Order: sequence, then structure tokens, then C-alpha cells
Amino acid sequence: MTTKAVTCAPELSPLAEIGTDIAKAVSLLEKGQLVAIPTETVYGLAGNALNEHAVATIFQVKNRPTFDPLIVHLSDKDQLAVYATEIPPKAERLMDRFWPGPLTLLLPKKSIIPDLVTSGLERAGFRCPNHTLAHQLLSRLNFPLAAPSANPFGYISPTEAIHVENQLGDRIDYILDGGPCTVGVESTIIGFESGEPIVYRLGGISLEEIESVIGNIKIGSSTSKPAAPGQLESHYAPKKKMILGDVRALMQQTKNQSYGILSFDTDYRASVQRILSPSGDTTEAARNLFRYMRELDSESVSVIFCEKVPDEGLGRAINDRLKRACA
Ligand code: TXA
Ligand code: MG
Repeated sequence: MTTKAVTCAPELSPLAEIGTDIAKAVSLLEKGQLVAIPTETVYGLAGNALNEHAVATIFQVKNRPTFDPLIVHLSDKDQLAVYATEIPPKAERLMDRFWPGPLTLLLPKKSIIPDLVTSGLERAGFRCPNHTLAHQLLSRLNFPLAAPSANPFGYISPTEAIHVENQLGDRIDYILDGGPCTVGVESTIIGFESGEPIVYRLGGISLEEIESVIGNIKIGSSTSKPAAPGQLESHYAPKKKMILGDVRALMQQTKNQSYGILSFDTDYRASVQRILSPSGDTTEAARNLFRYMRELDSESVSVIFCEKVPDEGLGRAINDRLKRACA
């Protein structure tokens, strides 16, 4: 008698559902589960910021080190007084001007926010996203949402629901689809040292806009132990090697190597290329940045050449991301 070998296929987790059902998102979040949510900057991997178990799951799902704190998302400005102990006058002015919007403020937190959210730091990052679905969702919850960008740690941030599905879809149940993100780079992070504002991460609100409200502002330097680990030298990186420099020269030096090009406004007539903004607009370039980086990452080329964009408007945030993606 022969016995038949029973082969068991490895169990595959079903992929997350993508939809616009806010009630479903509310119900999952109330149970302490995670939901990917749209914001104007990038998609976030959200959980109840007051529930330590939900917060721990965020770190696990993203494979993110717990020394890298999470931003707390609020439905509106009035909520801030519930969670922050102190709001400097310059923070008030920035909020009045830029909330809801891509600005995160680091402010001393009340103890109701678990230390895990802030990696033990006394300040928490607070932000009020400017996205209709995110706002509707937050308004229906009686807790704020901790949400890092919904990508595996170190990789490019997602700007469409499908980006989240492709990378974290087997680890979460639901992705709230709010369409492509309109800003495309993460929020600008500002903190205060002795009352004076410092930019810890360049992002969706430009320096020019910030300085028009509160005057000159310092930019915090990036170190190996940064106040905002989004400032880690290598971050936002594709899997492929990416080189920042003079694209034309890089193309000429290259022999026997297939490459893709990510340019600002120039058409280099390469067979694989993406132009961030043919009209030379840094806001449009920011909106396209991460999607184009992903697309080039999945092309059959062995290296991606990119160039700096002008250091103005959202150009500074783009250059910051390009530098880290190439580090
Ligand atoms: O636009 C954004 O900010 C997006 C969307 C989803 O809101 N979120 C985002 O989160 O970019 P994340 O976790 O990928 O990046 C947040 C950055 C990290 O570099 C973190 O270190 C820093 O903010 N951060 C958060 N809380 C902080 C804190 N209490 N002190 C210093 N840095 C903090
Ligand atoms: Mg991130």
C-alpha cells in the first residue's frame, strides 16, 4: 500500500480590502486594529494613539525600530489642548495659518499619550491632516491616531492606496482609499528649543511659507541620533541603487549598465525616464516624486540617476528625500 503525500501550500494571508467605508475603518480602529489612511502628504498606517497595544502593532507591521517616534493625528486644532501641556505663541501662529495641513508640531505631551508613541521623548509630534476622508474618520473617533507613513521602514512612502496594498497588504485588513496624495512629501516638522522654532524635517510646507509667518527659522542638523529619525541619513530609499548628480555626465560615463532617469524638468531622451515637472514647478514635482521613484524601482534597470531640483518651495524637501534615498 502506498501512502499519498499531502502537500500543504504555505498559507498566504489575504490582501487588505481597499475601499472608502469610514464606518468599517472606525470599527477596526475602535477594536485596536490598524487601518491605512489617506492624508494630503502620504498614506499613514493608523492605530489608536492612546492604546499601547495598537501602537506596538504599528511598529511591528512596519518593522520600525521603537526609537523612531510616531506622529499623533488630530481631527482639529481644539483637540491639541487635550494632549499637549504647553503651546508656545509661535506654534499657535503656525497652527492658525497651516492647520489643517502638512505641518507637524513637536510639543510637550500629556501622560494620556503612551510613552511608546514618542519613544520615551517628552514631546509628541502633532498634526492635523488636510484630507476630507481623514478628517471625517478622525471626527468620528474619540481618540487621536498614531500614524507613520504606511511603508516598510526605510522604504519610499506610499502616495496611493495600491502602494500600501503592494507592501503591507498582507499585514493589515483595510486601506481607506482617498485617491492619490495631493502634496506627495511628508509634513514639515517643527519643534521649539527655548521658545525658538527649529525645522527638524523639511516637508510639505515650504521654508518660505513658514518664515512668512514667524520670521527666520533654524534648520536642525541631521546626526546619527537625530531628534526626528526621518532625518536618518539613509531613508526613503528604493531597492535599486540611486545616484544623485549631473545626469548627463552620469549617462555618458555609463557603460554596459542599464539605467533609469529621474529628472526635474529636463527630457534626457533616455528610454527609461520620469520627469518630475516638465514645467519646472516644485509643487508638481513633489506630488510625483515618490510615485516616480517606485515606478523606476520596478523597471528593469540596474541603477537610477537623479538630479537636484531648485532649492526653493518644495524643492528643498525633494532634495532632502533624494539625498537620503541615495545615501
Ligand atoms: O506627513 C506626514 O507626516 C506623514 C503622514 C502619514 O501624516 N507621517 C509621517 O510619519 O511621515 P513618519 O513616522 O513616517 O515620520 C515621522 C517623523 C519621524 O522621522 C519621527 O522620528 C518624527 O517624525 N517624529 C515623530 N514624533 C517625534 C517626536 N516626538 N520627536 C521627534 N521626532 C518625532
Ligand atoms: Mg516615514
